[in-house]
Amino acid sequence: MRDTRFIYINYFCSTKLDKMFSIDKIRADFPILQRTVNGKPLVYFDNAATSQTPQVVIDAIVDYYSSYNANIHRGVHSLSQEATDAYEKARIKIQQHFNAEKSYEAIFTSGTTHGINIVASGFSELLLAGDEIIVSALEHNSNIVPWQMLCEKTDAVLKVIPMSEDGSLQLDVYEELLSEKTKLVFCNHVSNALGTINPIQEIIRKAHQVGAAVLIDGAQACPHIKPDVQALDVDFYVASAHKICGPTGVGILYGKEEWLQKLPPYQGGGEMIETVTFQKTSYAGLPHKFEAGTPNICGGIAFGVALDYMNSIGFDAITAYENELLLYGTEKLQEIAGLKIYGTVSKTAVISFNIEGVHPYDIGAILDKLGVAVRTGHHCAQPIMDFYNIPGTVRASFSFYNTKQEIDILVSAIKRAAKMLA
Ligand code: ALA
Repeated sequence: MRDTRFIYINYFCSTKLDKMFSIDKIRADFPILQRTVNGKPLVYFDNAATSQTPQVVIDAIVDYYSSYNANIHRGVHSLSQEATDAYEKARIKIQQHFNAEKSYEAIFTSGTTHGINIVASGFSELLLAGDEIIVSALEHNSNIVPWQMLCEKTDAVLKVIPMSEDGSLQLDVYEELLSEKTKLVFCNHVSNALGTINPIQEIIRKAHQVGAAVLIDGAQACPHIKPDVQALDVDFYVASAHKICGPTGVGILYGKEEWLQKLPPYQGGGEMIETVTFQKTSYAGLPHKFEAGTPNICGGIAFGVALDYMNSIGFDAITAYENELLLYGTEKLQEIAGLKIYGTVSKTAVISFNIEGVHPYDIGAILDKLGVAVRTGHHCAQPIMDFYNIPGTVRASFSFYNTKQEIDILVSAIKRAAKMLA
């Protein structure tokens, strides 16, 4: 019997959506989608690992290196000023996209992991032995290991919000874990392995009731959802550009000003200082205090262009279209004998599955031969796999530039792989 729990999302009827969303035009923006893999047209369903790059972002990168490549914040010459200008304009685009109150609350990072480590390292000076940190069971390794390292350094205690079979978090247990000892709560907005959309507004509100700060990992949410950090009242929010049509090696740490003032710098170096003598160094103000060394200038500028591109399509249209893909893909995949989907609550366009008796890696390898790119394995989220007692899953993650026809190709490729491996 078909699982109707998937039919949960408001989505526009196809006719209305077609008017809002010209898929052919969108696909033409992505040169890579024209290529073949192993002699077959590429079907790219590994968007949760990294998204593809539209021509406008590629052009911005080429333009930077062709026309105004220079170091920023430190040159009187024109090239340096042009580069500084473009980089700081990108910061403002990011501020506006996330609705941060102040542009200096947007810190450029090398990606989500870097952002998390800035906060974790800073808290090592704020925590006392016996303080508690709460993380969720749905976390990526990059959201588990820095907190374990922090607890080792400070003798703070790590507690975990458990998950349920449907891929949701047990919020009643979360409430029991919270106490005046809780100093920091950490949760992803969306699970990378299952796609679960976590109720972060509630998680943040409850943490604030006991005076704890909250860091939300938005890496997997931002390709699908436009977060409003002020409305969420979140203390820290991190994301990576490469999941949102931008380049790799650049990301964002949003922090409320009061918290960014409280945290010590993460790295020492150029840019993050006010004055340096051998006796004493004073640090620069925000955002530079957290931006030591020459940053990924081109990446930051291209990140801004990627956000412009996504916003020109519009997140309402993106969400609606991707929800259609999710619904269609779920229905089609559920028709395959022996296929089990993990994570059945409200989620983004991610389908994590296994076929009974078949190793996910073997499915992934055959799909690749047929031109279909998916991720297989534990997705850097081993505790989730342990919970389900499986070595990993096959994960098909959709984006707004994918189509139902591509899902049909995935489905017939899975059927072929299952037959070969039976
Ligand atoms: N965290 C990325 C993923 O889920 C790499 O694939």
